[in-house]
Amino acid sequence: GWRTPYIYKYQGFWCQPQEIQAIISFQKHFQPRDTDVILASIPKSGTTWLKALSFAIMNRKQFAISSNNHPLLASNPHDLVPFFEYKLYANKQVPDLSKLPDPRLFATHVPFSSLQDSIKKSNCRIIYICRNPFDTFISSWIFSNKLRSENVPPLALEETFKMYCKGLVGFGPFWDHMLGYWKESLEKPDKVLFLKYEDMKEDVTFYLKKIAKFLGCPFSMEEEKEGVVEGIARLCSFEKMKDLEVNKTGKSIKNFENKHLFRKGEVGDWVNYLSPSMVKQLSQLAEEKLGGSGIEFKVFP
Ligand code: PPS
Repeated sequence: GWRTPYIYKYQGFWCQPQEIQAIISFQKHFQPRDTDVILASIPKSGTTWLKALSFAIMNRKQFAISSNNHPLLASNPHDLVPFFEYKLYANKQVPDLSKLPDPRLFATHVPFSSLQDSIKKSNCRIIYICRNPFDTFISSWIFSNKLRSENVPPLALEETFKMYCKGLVGFGPFWDHMLGYWKESLEKPDKVLFLKYEDMKEDVTFYLKKIAKFLGCPFSMEEEKEGVVEGIARLCSFEKMKDLEVNKTGKSIKNFENKHLFRKGEVGDWVNYLSPSMVKQLSQLAEEKLGGSGIEFKVFP
């Protein structure tokens, strides 16, 4: 009823009715190009960060990283890298994306199994980011409560946790979402790059180089000497982005303010919220669903 938003299962994953309409339109109309780059994630896994990093890497010839006019200083990453389901295909009118200059950069939360064959068959590239389920759950629970209007009681932790463990979370179950992209990344490493939030927090410059190489635009020796890689890391850091005016007061996606996208940006904040029994339950679930797949997570900083 009114306590939880309506959520439906579409093609094996959970989402809201407006999202389903947009996804159907995206699946039907989007025409991929070999030069396209698609960023994929389950919500609250580091999407905003990956958008910023990828945008900065791909556009660094046009927008110098040290420039005071860099688009990332004035725009939220969600404005620079649109979601198929929240922006491009969210309206009745099908967008004309053919005029966008190559390489086009898009994002989605849609699971791999629901991407249309044209995407799977084209040479477009996909970068997937995932995050340990402990932190992703807490980030998602707190974010969902921020989105609720004031006269509606907040979602209780226990109840939301139970749903999460049953797979009930936007675009979940989380394990199916991860496994879909993971398997493809093993089969086609040139098509799907599988990244983890925790690894990137630990050594962002290493992953910046990895992303640039994957996208076919590796950093030159000269760029590395000039500190371009570190420059991107700084420009896209949580501290830097959180303090930008556009991210303190702006709005990029319908229904919420940019400031809610920058909460803590850490690994291990779940210790402040989850009870020992929840930790045990979620650990067992992750082992049951992901054990043996090769996906492993760091859950402490
Ligand atoms: S969304 O709504 O799906 O796009 O959200 P998403 O960006 O995937 O996840 C939000 C969490 O990512 C943290 N965040 C960052 N971490 C590191 N660096 C940067 N630049 C950054 N920007 C956002 C954000 O704080 C959310 O995590 P929590 O744990 O809630 O702080």
